[in-house]
Amino acid sequence: MNIHKLKIRKVAPVVVPFIIFMMLLTGLSLGKVKKILIEQAYSKLTTSRDMKKQQIEEFFSRTVVDIEILAKSQCIKSLVNSFDSSNRYLSYQQEEFLQNYTKRYNYMNMLIISPSSGIIKYTQSKILKTGDNLNSEKLKDSLLNKVWQRVAKSKETRFVDMKPDKPFGGRTMMFVATPIYINDKFQAILVFQISDSSLSKIINFGEGYGETQKDYIIGSDSSVDINGTQCALTHSTRVSILNLKIGKCTTDVTQHALCGQHGKQVVKNCDGERVLSAYSSLEIAQDLNWAIISEIDEKVVLSIPNNIRDATIRDSMLFIFIITVVILFFIYKESKYEEAVTQKNQEMNETLQSRVAQEVIKNREHQELLFQQSKMASMGEMIGNIAHQWRQPLNALSALNVGLAMRYKAGKLTNNDVAVFKEKSNHIIQKMSDTINDFRNFFYPEKSVERFRVDRAIDDAINFIKDSYRINNIKIVNYTSCELDIENHKNELIQVLLNIFNNSKDAIKEFNSQNGVVIIDVIILENSLKITIQDNGGGIDQEIIDRVFEPYFTTKFKDEGTGIGLYMSKMIIEESMGGKLKLENRDSGVLTTIKLAIN
Ligand SMILES: Nc1ncnc2c1ncn2[C@@H]1O[C@H](COP(=O)(O)OP(=O)(O)OP(=O)(O)O)[C@@H](O)[C@H]1O
Ligand SMILES: [Mg+2]
Repeated sequence: MNIHKLKIRKVAPVVVPFIIFMMLLTGLSLGKVKKILIEQAYSKLTTSRDMKKQQIEEFFSRTVVDIEILAKSQCIKSLVNSFDSSNRYLSYQQEEFLQNYTKRYNYMNMLIISPSSGIIKYTQSKILKTGDNLNSEKLKDSLLNKVWQRVAKSKETRFVDMKPDKPFGGRTMMFVATPIYINDKFQAILVFQISDSSLSKIINFGEGYGETQKDYIIGSDSSVDINGTQCALTHSTRVSILNLKIGKCTTDVTQHALCGQHGKQVVKNCDGERVLSAYSSLEIAQDLNWAIISEIDEKVVLSIPNNIRDATIRDSMLFIFIITVVILFFIYKESKYEEAVTQKNQEMNETLQSRVAQEVIKNREHQELLFQQSKMASMGEMIGNIAHQWRQPLNALSALNVGLAMRYKAGKLTNNDVAVFKEKSNHIIQKMSDTINDFRNFFYPEKSVERFRVDRAIDDAINFIKDSYRINNIKIVNYTSCELDIENHKNELIQVLLNIFNNSKDAIKEFNSQNGVVIIDVIILENSLKITIQDNGGGIDQEIIDRVFEPYFTTKFKDEGTGIGLYMSKMIIEESMGGKLKLENRDSGVLTTIKLAIN
């Protein structure tokens, strides 16, 4: 994988905020889902609460109807009448009817009590006996006593709330009682012991409730009378409502409901968990007010979005962790790669540097070799020139010698002749020696710069080649007239001029021109001077003119040219002397221009 293309450092700052953004988005969506689920749960709780409230209220109004109808029945009236007569025993049919009635309508006991004395005239329970007195020590604190007194006092149907009844071993009991009138005379009280099984059945109903939904009935004294699984005192550890004491539930919700209100609210249970609660009052009778509460744990309602939230957080964290590990891995690899590249570059640089240094040395050696070759070539030319230059003085010396010898043979040699010979031969030898000096100066030049006159350097160069020009019938026209000094390498300039003069000579020879001419001039500019050399050797072929400064580029035969003359000349003028050298075709030949600074 190409790490540079991956650009992991650029990807990382994008991926991580994107994940966080997605988490926020998920959080917002989950918030909305939670709201909807809570609304749905409340609507379910409210429905359940209202349905059960109605069932319970109907149950009690049916109970009232049951007892009041029975109190007015002929059967009961004749039974009560029989209490005052001598025939106090029930007929078999009466007994069977009353027993069946209690069973049929799901009451636990039926009693008839004397309103004035509190004596039990009739009971179906085996715990009590006919003749037991409610004013007795045993029964005076009983719920039965309470309901008897209430009805005796009010002469109307009355309830006693469901409570543990001490005289009966703390068994939970509830009674409804109504007066029995015979000929408009208050003769007895009819009592039903209400079974809580019917109420439990209503409250216990929980089809489709889910795991933690529960309904409770709270008594007017805040005791939890009936809940989904238990009732009265034993329920308390199971009912999870805050501030629950044994058998008492005094939360805001129960207080509101017992005050006759209804509504919904979040409460905290005894474990501190949030519970959704829908409450309402249950007004059963004048002296019997209960509350009904339907509840469900909030975490159960929100289990799905909470699970999604937890899974999202867990997965995102895992993803971020994996991404971080991957990023760190790639950064590590990248840094390793960069390190390797840097090291490689360093090695390459070092190799390159040493190669460049080697190449520079080689190049310098090559340049020196070229320079040397160029010098040798010039030397060849030069020796030819010297040979020409020496021919005339040598001939003159020889003539002087012959003349001297002939005078001596003829016996005419005078002292004057010897003196003239000496003077003339010395003069000639001095000239030849000068030529040698020039030659030596040129080949062993002072490397350092020197101040020299440009016209004299040009003259010196002409001097070297003038004989070979003369032999080839080539005219040199020198217009140089300035007497200007410059500070530079004189001999190197001469060498360049020699190369140029030789090239012009070769071109004129090659061109077979009978009127070969080379015109030299010097033009002085503001801060520089231009030496121009114009020949009429036919010029350079336009196709190769750009290549004439390349080393070893030549159009001449093997022995006639090496192709380094112009290359070296350009190097000398431009690298060593800080000037410019250019060649161009002009008229019927080549115009060479050397530009040098005046300093
Ligand atoms: N004045 C000129 N007229 C025509 N051609 C020229 C002239 N000067 C140079 N040239 C061309 O440029 C080529 C390169 O010249 P250069 O002086 O570098 O090498 P060369 O003269 O061939 O060999 P040498 O190394 O002996 O000088 C020549 O071979 C020739 O073709
Ligand atoms: Mg040349």
